[in-house]
Amino acid sequence: MTTPSTPRKGIVLAGGSGTRLHPMTSVISKQLLPVYDKPMVFYPLSVLMLAGIREVLVISTPRDLPLFRQLLGDGSRLGMRFAFAEQAAPRGIAEALVIADPFLAGAPSALVLGDNLFFGHGLVEMLLRADQRPKGASVFATRVKDPERFGVVSFDKDGRALSIEEKPKQPKSHFAVTGLYFYDAAAPGLARQLTPSARGELEITDLNRLYLDRGELAVMPFGRGIAWLDAGTPTALLQAAQFIQTIEENQQLKIACVEEIAWRQGWIDKTALTKLAESFGAGAYGQYLARLAREENPWQG
Ligand code: TTP
Repeated sequence: MTTPSTPRKGIVLAGGSGTRLHPMTSVISKQLLPVYDKPMVFYPLSVLMLAGIREVLVISTPRDLPLFRQLLGDGSRLGMRFAFAEQAAPRGIAEALVIADPFLAGAPSALVLGDNLFFGHGLVEMLLRADQRPKGASVFATRVKDPERFGVVSFDKDGRALSIEEKPKQPKSHFAVTGLYFYDAAAPGLARQLTPSARGELEITDLNRLYLDRGELAVMPFGRGIAWLDAGTPTALLQAAQFIQTIEENQQLKIACVEEIAWRQGWIDKTALTKLAESFGAGAYGQYLARLAREENPWQG
């Protein structure tokens, strides 16, 4: 396997209407709401970072984009580069590739939905495997109890993807495609060729099917060691928060702490980490970063 010559760039899609979370989202984006101890958008952003991606475009609504800019800045404090773009209306997930075209400028991409949380054993290895596929698209599938709510993928007995359908009334499997998609440089051009679905959206499932039809779609199933949560309803949001709290309290390690990941990736040094810790004041989050920065051996602290 060869690594693509142009480094992959990331896209966090954090627009949408968030109607299922009204009135919590009446005046603020869903992806800025907290999931336990940090804004929701940190979770998908951290997934891109764990895939080694340092340049990320954040797409949100005209109303919310200024807040994302304020929260994330230009990325330099994490040794990264953030860019921002508006999605004028929620015209579908695949529109993210069209909006991102000038930002990508021919680079391969990884698109993640701003309300998706991924956690578990073997995740980073899978991300790196997807990143290293030079051509085509890679998506991840996981068993769900209600596949009719998702993009559903069916497999032959050798584990090759056979079909991919958006919200089918009669799902052919229990495997849903998660909100994390790795694409080669062809994706923006292919996304432009899509026509809106009956619900008026450019469907990411249609883009993935184009790759499937070309024989270029890799579908990687998650085993039971990897959890995929979307935080789009009040119950899912609370459950996600409790899930993160349980793991963080047991392990005394944080999930999706972007400052920690930037440091472990070697994108910032200990001095920068200490400064970041101080910027958060005396709260638990700042203390956690300060503890990391003090440790001689980060793997024994
Ligand atoms: P959804 O959860 O399908 O939609 P939503 O966020 O608008 O919420 P609701 O169903 O409660 O109205 O979207 C999945 C993710 O993709 C979410 O993070 C929002 C984002 N999204 C966009 O940014 N633009 C879009 O055009 C669409 C369809 C979704």
